[in-house]
Amino acid sequence: MKVLIVGRGVVGTVYGWALSQAGIDVTHVVRQEGLAATGTLDLLDLRPGHPKHARVTYTPKTVRQIAPSDGFDLVIVATKHYQAVEAIRQYLPDAPRATFLLFTANWDGTQEIDGLLARSSLLWGYAAASGGPDDRGVLIVTVAPTVRFGMLEGSDPDKFKAVTELFQRAGFTLDIKTNIVEWLWVHHAINAGGIGIALWAGGIAEATRSLKTMRLGVWAIREALDVVAARGVDVKCYPDAKGVLNIPPWLAGLPIFCAVRFTEKGRRLLLGSHFAHSPDEMKRYYFDVLHTGENLGVAMPHLRKLRERIERYPANPE
Ligand SMILES: NC(=O)c1ccc[n+]([C@@H]2O[C@H](COP(=O)([O-])OP(=O)(O)OC[C@H]3O[C@@H](n4cnc5c(N)ncnc54)[C@H](OP(=O)(O)O)[C@@H]3O)[C@@H](O)[C@H]2O)c1
Repeated sequence: MKVLIVGRGVVGTVYGWALSQAGIDVTHVVRQEGLAATGTLDLLDLRPGHPKHARVTYTPKTVRQIAPSDGFDLVIVATKHYQAVEAIRQYLPDAPRATFLLFTANWDGTQEIDGLLARSSLLWGYAAASGGPDDRGVLIVTVAPTVRFGMLEGSDPDKFKAVTELFQRAGFTLDIKTNIVEWLWVHHAINAGGIGIALWAGGIAEATRSLKTMRLGVWAIREALDVVAARGVDVKCYPDAKGVLNIPPWLAGLPIFCAVRFTEKGRRLLLGSHFAHSPDEMKRYYFDVLHTGENLGVAMPHLRKLRERIERYPANPE
């Protein structure tokens, strides 16, 4: 199978590297001039049978544009969620027979995508690997063994099988979501409150310094989940949401504190993270949920309280 990955961002690079290591033919399409030919990945690799700690060099096959004669079978759209529709518009004409695996967050549903692409050519996934560049440009990544996948109503089960098998070949196991779009909304809400509190406090390290701040974050996440519930989703079906909803208030914040401060993954998060690398996207999670909550008339006193400081949080460095 010939695979095109849109972009050479964090997720595109990690899975591009992992798939090409498994002998899969991977190309990245980029729109930036002058990208370095290689990238260094500092890995905490949790896939069974893979060296746990490694520093590797990835030299991806990179192009600036594609043509129908390239014959791509699969296009992995590993962009920020608000870049995905534009990316489909841009590459669909030159990959007319490809399956598109949307590998992004989602907050607005699939209506716009459905206007561009038949459901039979559309699948959804979401990275469980995480990371970001450190201050020297080395990608600090934790590679989780699972990858989330889901079919939409009308997705083609044979294409789903073929695509998920590629990831299995690369040593990943499948975490299949029955309703991946709803799951992504729940995830977005958890990010809105969780990342929101980190923006409010001035960073992940700052947010995890005080249990009081983290408790505020937990209340903000609960209100963000109320927004998803107001869309008609039964959030209690989702284990990640249940964890936040069921925690006693006096304990709220402690598990996040421990996860960031006392695990290797947490310590790596402070070295190089998606959070530090993309403040605009981080702010977008918060405002997506806040604006929907306002439109639906959801009470969100704690989530709203974060607004002013998040608005002032510096944008992406140029
Ligand atoms: N990083 C993480 O830890 C992590 C973990 C789990 C899930 N996710 C999710 O995975 C998705 C991708 O995240 P990410 O961290 O990889 O984002 P990212 O580092 O910002 O990468 C996005 C990439 O897409 C490229 N792109 C966007 N539109 C394009 C187009 N039309 N043509 C070519 N390239 C295009 C961007 O290129 P430009 O530089 O030209 O804009 C950039 O290289 C997001 O939805 C995120 O929420 C991320």
